[in-house]
Amino acid sequence: MPVNNDDSKPQNKQSAPSKLPKHVAIIMDGNGRWAELRGRNRTFGHLRGARIAREIIEASSKIGLQELTLYTFSSENWLRPLEEVSFLMALLSRHLKRERATLVKNNIRFNAIGELSRLPAAVREEVDLTIATTAHCTGMRLTFALSYGGRQDILAAARTLAYQAQSGEFDPNTLSQEDFSRRFEDQLMTNGMSDPDLIIRTSGESRLSNFFLWQSAYSEILITSALWPDYNESELLSALQWYANRERRFGKTSAQVMAELTP
Ligand code: FPP
Repeated sequence: MPVNNDDSKPQNKQSAPSKLPKHVAIIMDGNGRWAELRGRNRTFGHLRGARIAREIIEASSKIGLQELTLYTFSSENWLRPLEEVSFLMALLSRHLKRERATLVKNNIRFNAIGELSRLPAAVREEVDLTIATTAHCTGMRLTFALSYGGRQDILAAARTLAYQAQSGEFDPNTLSQEDFSRRFEDQLMTNGMSDPDLIIRTSGESRLSNFFLWQSAYSEILITSALWPDYNESELLSALQWYANRERRFGKTSAQVMAELTP
């Protein structure tokens, strides 16, 4: 997993490259540390984090990304102190209420994945309203992963497939890998979304933290040391430039990939 240092450090080019990833997913990390470094409460970092999310959403849409997913609240984040969870829920609700009009103005279609039934009713209402209000938008699809966990999603999908097998819908003995992938992906919360081409994680931590476990099989993963509240459009452009220079081989050799690209 490349880390933003030495030879793998993204070059700071300030325009978007022509070879763009279709789907960028971001693990926004480091709000708490950013606030603590300033002697402030963790919630101060989340407030600033929400502002950065707004800037990155707008920049991504302007750049022309087709899909942007933000890991906004994980299944495991419910384990945080109640005051922090309540603050994050209130912030989310306020953010959606405030940003709805801007999303429409920027032609951004909003989507949410995760165990949404666990969200407080007020947040769910804002989520539903934002999905409905932006349903006609044809530009970038913005997905918030909310109360989302990759393992939880995989378990739910596996359970459905087990029921399908039990009811005779398919024979597990003759299930091919392609059939399995199709049936399985149909059941995942990300059904209809493309796999992320580029996953960015801020704050220098080299792990996926239960995010897109199935979907990240061939994602390019960039770890940047910037804490999320310090992230900005320039960092995003550097990440896109880094991605543009990657050779995606999907298990093949470099020579095979080159041969496929040659007319
Ligand atoms: C990680 O920082 C941040 C989260 C818990 C999720 C992301 C939340 C935001 C960016 C704020 C709300 C966003 C929107 C769009 C309303 P951390 O608390 O884990 O930081 P730490 O690792 O330094 O403690």
